[in-house]
Amino acid sequence: MTIRSVITACGGYLPEKIVTNADMEKIVDTTDEWIQQRTGIKERHMAAADEKTSDMAIAAAKEALLHGSYKGEDIDGIIVATCTPDNTFPSIAIRVQDALDIPPGLAFDVQAVCSGFIYALSVANSFIQTGLARRILVIGAEKMTSILNWDDRATCVLFGDGAGAIVLEADEAAQGSLEDRGVLSTHLYANGHLKDLLYTTGGGTGNNDKPDHVMMEGRDVFRHAVQYMSDIVNEVLEHNHISPDDIDWLVPHQANIRIIEATAKKLDMSMDQVIVTVDRHGNTSAASIPLALNEAVRSGQVKQGDLLLMEALGAGLTWGAALVRF
Ligand code: ACO
Repeated sequence: MTIRSVITACGGYLPEKIVTNADMEKIVDTTDEWIQQRTGIKERHMAAADEKTSDMAIAAAKEALLHGSYKGEDIDGIIVATCTPDNTFPSIAIRVQDALDIPPGLAFDVQAVCSGFIYALSVANSFIQTGLARRILVIGAEKMTSILNWDDRATCVLFGDGAGAIVLEADEAAQGSLEDRGVLSTHLYANGHLKDLLYTTGGGTGNNDKPDHVMMEGRDVFRHAVQYMSDIVNEVLEHNHISPDDIDWLVPHQANIRIIEATAKKLDMSMDQVIVTVDRHGNTSAASIPLALNEAVRSGQVKQGDLLLMEALGAGLTWGAALVRF
């Protein structure tokens, strides 16, 4: 018997406040033209001062439960990908469990920065396939604006806040074929030697006298992102014995339109088959893929039976991909 983990519902949340590139021009020495040309970003959402990552995660999770007509009691696992938790502990997953009256079951956070959602999806898939849980809320939620240096134009223009959620459910009737709905394969990597290309200055126990700000060697990260994304999409194709033509939608991490375009080109995919939200969301780290998926499902672009390739790269460097029949 093959057990497949099927995405049965999704939800998303974006804070009300929108910060445009024109607004950024008033904060740092930048231009709308520079930001759009280098990244494709036009605007991003910014959480209110008193709005926490858990508030966004809970809102996205509520929407996903509603979408799938689930109640809290139907869920037996929660995995949240985030690098911006409210506090060191308890985890955001615990806060979601409390807020949505989800009964005792597994609940924890995963920290793989912008690749976090792919990591969380992969872990949830393994739990479902080994019978540890049957229906897991997988959430990506970030308040990236809380860890930005608003004097550093090279980083502060890139990020935004938000949360996306899916429900991943066991399908025991799967035959083990490529045509089955569900997660078909996941691929996870990290290269710790590249940890100094993208990191935060404070937080945790390392440097807690310093503010916790994102630091990035953008050009180097960009170079590695293009290479690793190209390598991993090839790996997904080979592993599943498929060609780029078989893929209906690329659902990439939304860091930079140029990285997304390079991956689409590698797959010989038209940009019409790529879900793009970076223009309106900026880089929401672990939230970007579930937010993009939610938009694509709600707009009717992604339909049941479509084959989706998700991929992401983040600080670590970490990177990963998942092939999913929606
Ligand atoms: N406005 C105007 N000029 C700027 C800005 C800005 N906001 N930021 C930087 N510049 C200037 C720089 O000072 C530099 O000027 P100089 O040539 O006089 O020194 C020039 O623009 C070029 O700077 P670069 O950093 O080389 O610009 P680049 O073309 O590489 O674009 C960017 C920068 C957009 C950050 C790009 O490198 C990138 O997207 N990198 C990858 C980001 C990514 O994928 N991150 C992973 C996920 S994030 C996570 O895990 C948290």
